Amino acid sequence: MAMVCLSDFENHAKKYLPKIAWDFFAAGADECSTRDENILAYKRIRFRPRVLRDVSMMDITTKLLGAEISFPVGIAPTGFHQLAWPDGEKSTARAAKAMNTCYIASTYSTCTLEEISEAAPGGLRWFQLYIHRNRTVSQQLVQQAEALGFNALVLTADLPYTGKRRDDVRNGFCLPPHMKLKNLEGAFEVCKMSLLDPSVTWNDIYWLRSLTNLPIIIKGILTKEDAELAVRHGVQGIIVSNHGGRQLDGGPATIDALVEVVEAVQRRVEVYLDGGIRKGSDVLKALALGAKCVFIGRPALWGLAYKGEEGLQEVLRILQDEFRLSMALAGCASVSEIGRHLVEFSKL
Ligand code: FNR
Repeated sequence: MAMVCLSDFENHAKKYLPKIAWDFFAAGADECSTRDENILAYKRIRFRPRVLRDVSMMDITTKLLGAEISFPVGIAPTGFHQLAWPDGEKSTARAAKAMNTCYIASTYSTCTLEEISEAAPGGLRWFQLYIHRNRTVSQQLVQQAEALGFNALVLTADLPYTGKRRDDVRNGFCLPPHMKLKNLEGAFEVCKMSLLDPSVTWNDIYWLRSLTNLPIIIKGILTKEDAELAVRHGVQGIIVSNHGGRQLDGGPATIDALVEVVEAVQRRVEVYLDGGIRKGSDVLKALALGAKCVFIGRPALWGLAYKGEEGLQEVLRILQDEFRLSMALAGCASVSEIGRHLVEFSKL
């Protein structure tokens, strides 16, 4: 069967993944209202398309902290890729490199950082950090990521504790015995995710800064107040994210939170977004509202579950084609022409 859109990959994953893995990927917190809102919010935004603007030559490339990528969609950090495909994060790294985009590798990877970088040498990769109670573990990971050539550090700020995901509780979710959180081996008991440090504060950005020269990006910002604090603490980028609706249920859709963050930041740092991106036109809406780039979480896992790196490449290619087409139909020949005028902003 031809895979035409990202929902086709979702349906395939739901049908073929073991229930416990599907439930873990799909989970949102509590009643999943924020998870679902991430998607619904895009449907409320309408375009103001322009016509007769010569879209015969399209440039959909963009830059992330100065590095060029083929289009403004990267791969958000998600854990446990071996639940989707045996080669796990190695396949993810290869697919991202083949498509010339950015892959944010999770602390909770089932391959080591070394395996990930060897799988796709020279690919654009960022490392996502959860700060561990044992700071030496985190320090070593950050320094290892830098030594291996990861290009930035992404600090996830919205997980002092894991949100209550009902199906995971019902299923007694934990990794099968043959899979390991390779970067935390010996430091972590997989079924008791209690070793993350809930006492982390803004001051820890200074601690991270003392460990590494990598750019620091903060993930999980939803308000202008925190955006301002992030800029004041010297980060280089912000990812507007609610963790795919897996943490606090009842928070805003990320596309709705984006506007206040972009206004607060005033171009001092790059602003990215993840959550609910399922179509090329969603990407266009996020860019119109000020995101420099967006990242996909679950759709990348569906791609892996379909056919490993080939499946993930197919997901990215479909999004790329849809994004190019949406841009052209909205009258933009290059990413630099995308702006607020493209959406009915007053109705947001
Ligand atoms: C995540 N997310 C996540 N974030 C993070 O910083 N570190 C992590 O290890 C994980 N792990 C993880 C696992 C799974 C199964 C999911 C679905 C999500 C959150 C992720 O980076 C991103 O914020 C959301 O997935 C974006 O929403 P969509 O694209 O899934 O709708």
